[in-house]
Amino acid sequence: MELTRIHNLSLAYINTFALRCAVELDISGRIQAYGCPMPLRELARSIPIPPEKDSMLGRLMRLLVHQGIFAKSEDGYQLTPASELLLTDGSNMGTYVRLFTQPQLIKDWGQLSEVFKDTGNCTLFEKMFYGKKVWELLKDKPEQGNLLNEAMASQSNLIMRRLVADFSNIFDGLNSLVDVGGGTGTAVKIIAEAFPRLRCTLFDLPHVVENALKSDTESFDVVGGDMFQKIPPADAIFLKKVLHDWDDEDCVQILKRCKEALESSKNGRKVIVVDIVIGLESNDPKTTETSLIFDISMMGLFGSKERNKQEWHDIILDAGYSGYKIYPAQLGVNSVIELYP
Ligand SMILES: C[S@@+](CC[C@H](N)C(=O)[O-])C[C@H]1O[C@@H](n2cnc3c(N)ncnc32)[C@H](O)[C@@H]1O
Repeated sequence: MELTRIHNLSLAYINTFALRCAVELDISGRIQAYGCPMPLRELARSIPIPPEKDSMLGRLMRLLVHQGIFAKSEDGYQLTPASELLLTDGSNMGTYVRLFTQPQLIKDWGQLSEVFKDTGNCTLFEKMFYGKKVWELLKDKPEQGNLLNEAMASQSNLIMRRLVADFSNIFDGLNSLVDVGGGTGTAVKIIAEAFPRLRCTLFDLPHVVENALKSDTESFDVVGGDMFQKIPPADAIFLKKVLHDWDDEDCVQILKRCKEALESSKNGRKVIVVDIVIGLESNDPKTTETSLIFDISMMGLFGSKERNKQEWHDIILDAGYSGYKIYPAQLGVNSVIELYP
């Protein structure tokens, strides 16, 4: 049992690359297009791969079926809720898989132990990319930036539809909202469509908001800027998957700018944070595992972290807020936190 655990963890990257392979071969799209359970031979011809490699494909599918990514009946392979997420005309989480399994991004995780030995504060990402921070590098590499925006957007679609349906009450009584670090606007668009009377604004770095689709921006305003400097005034500030990119000191600065933005609005009510809260009683073991993996990922990429209740408490109060409420939501692994000025 313990030996199996070590085997599985040592070779966990095989799962990673089996999933990437399924995305690159668009196996979900092929099964969807086939319209009924798809036999191995049909799947192989549709890619197409040489017939002598059919059995290799069968072995790849055997692992992916075992992982719950696909299902198999006597008649052939079928989609599961997990592989449905990969469909390009659906959630398109394949983009997310492509982003986080890029060989150039993961090759240097092998140097993680070096980061512990270093005396400086250099993150693993800075070691890999010649001292550059993530957002600096993405500015110079638009194709990587676009992939990140697309990956975040595909995840946003899933989380946001659930948020506006299950947590509509958190938007009650608000006249205006700014989505800070809102990327290219997927989340703010969903909020604006769900609550048409709410005046919504997308706020992100100038080169990022440039990519907000023109057709989308009819339902919301767009402002480019730096959240460490000034955030446009609004009744609510929305921060989804932003604070986990920053260390405590930076988070306190961002939250102070958010508070100033609320105080500049006549009806300033709250900051709405969507992020992971580690260790909530309601978290199941899988959610906890995912949160802990994200935490190490944040450590390597940004020198930042996922936070437990106490860590959220500390930065919220340090930034001068009078109180907060955690909704242990099951938005993927994310919860909602409301902060009151
Ligand atoms: C992890 S992404 C989250 C995007 C979006 N909120 C979502 O959930 O899909 C973090 C965002 O913060 C933005 N960002 C980074 N530094 C910023 C700054 N100084 N001012 C405003 N936005 C910033 C990035 O451009 C990026 O879009």
